[in-house]
Amino acid sequence: MNLTLKIWRQKDANSKGAIVDYQVQGIEGDMSFLEMLDVLNEQLITKGEEPVVFDHDCREGICGACSLQINGEPHGPDRLVTTCQLHMRKFNDGDTIYIEPFRAKAFPVVKDLMVDRSAFDRIQHAGGYISVNTSGNTIDANAIPVNKQDADDAFSAATCIGCGACVAACKNASAMLFTSAKVSQFALLPQGQVEATDRVLAMVNQMDEEGFGNCTNTGACEIECPKGISLENIARMNREYVKASMKG
Ligand code: SF4
Ligand code: FES
Repeated sequence: MNLTLKIWRQKDANSKGAIVDYQVQGIEGDMSFLEMLDVLNEQLITKGEEPVVFDHDCREGICGACSLQINGEPHGPDRLVTTCQLHMRKFNDGDTIYIEPFRAKAFPVVKDLMVDRSAFDRIQHAGGYISVNTSGNTIDANAIPVNKQDADDAFSAATCIGCGACVAACKNASAMLFTSAKVSQFALLPQGQVEATDRVLAMVNQMDEEGFGNCTNTGACEIECPKGISLENIARMNREYVKASMKG
């Protein structure tokens, strides 16, 4: 495949960015989207030009680092896959592909396609933990009965990889799907009850402080989420928040 790429280039956080056109040739359908960008970067390096900066780490759909807006969609046209697992067979010879960073006030561009998603870390730090008594009287986790459905739902919520696609997909740049997944994975389990009240208040407060917008139930986040995180988590977080506010 030969492709035209229209890529957002931005020198640093304070510079103005722009779309720049590139041509790549000989792209195979079995290549991943990131491998296609590797081909482009090899070309640029050979010509003595600066390669395009983009985030990646595991390249197997688990770390959440790869975060590209491809033809206007976070992680591109495929469903339930991250950018690193998106294959070039989803595109056709002669296609023009727009590649931009995830856009949100709370995700400032670092360089080219790389954004700063440390706002997510700060939301996690605000309440994404549990207290466990390790004084010698620790209860074996397997000795605490957990309802099967709750265990399954907590596990599903815990599959969120913090990629930020939900924010990029949302017209309000809301982080409700991410935050609600992090709240839910603890709210559903007995081990998460100790800090339940403080957790939801602190995480929602941090989410607002970071400048993410609010949820207006559009549902774009759920459609674009590579891990299929359900909107039910947002409903659960809202219930937890109301309960906690009344207690507080
Ligand atoms: S909820 Fe989905 S889209 Fe949002 S950060 Fe988690 S995995 Fe990514
Ligand atoms: S590079 Fe880790 S999920 Fe894509």
